[in-house]
Amino acid sequence: MDIDFKNVPKHYAARTHEKMEDVLMDPNGVGPSIHYYMIRGGKNQKNITVWEPGTVSGEYIKTYGHYHVGQLDENYDILFGQGIALVQKLAMDENGEMIADKVEEFKAIVTKPGNRIYMAPGYGHLLVNTGETYFVTADDSPVDFEERDPTSFPGHADYTLVKKMRGFAYYVVEHDGQPALKKNPLYKSIAKEDLDGLPVVG
Ligand SMILES: [Fe+2]
Repeated sequence: MDIDFKNVPKHYAARTHEKMEDVLMDPNGVGPSIHYYMIRGGKNQKNITVWEPGTVSGEYIKTYGHYHVGQLDENYDILFGQGIALVQKLAMDENGEMIADKVEEFKAIVTKPGNRIYMAPGYGHLLVNTGETYFVTADDSPVDFEERDPTSFPGHADYTLVKKMRGFAYYVVEHDGQPALKKNPLYKSIAKEDLDGLPVVG
């Protein structure tokens, strides 16, 4: 076995409440100081993500969400807990640029441990912890530990559109103790959607 320890200090990363305020349904809501933890190993070793359970003003704890630049796809293996994946593809303008507030396709996927969720190229994705325990996944996204401009290599994650729109087209909220979806009013249209049987609340 030939393991290089050089990048070990860069493996761990945490997403704080302060950072998540960008994309929360209620940016003034009270949440845990850290929403989720990542141990980044990359394509072969995998990236492990652990979500805290709970809600912020009724919205379940989630990952920030991003789009990949270029033709990168990835798989999320659901290891533990209860969660929902949100996937969305934005409409494109005539120059092939994504239109921030027009969704071509939106999908919610209720997951179970053992499921593998495929994130196709061009589809933004985030995952939500809807249970009372940690929610844990392993994904095979490549990781780049070098200090360089992230736009200089393909497949990097683009967070800017998610930030601009304050999250995805729907928020996952607790309603009568169960997960439900609530529309993000900043989005103008959703052409096609599959909500996996989840109710939509106003
Ligand atoms: Fe990703």
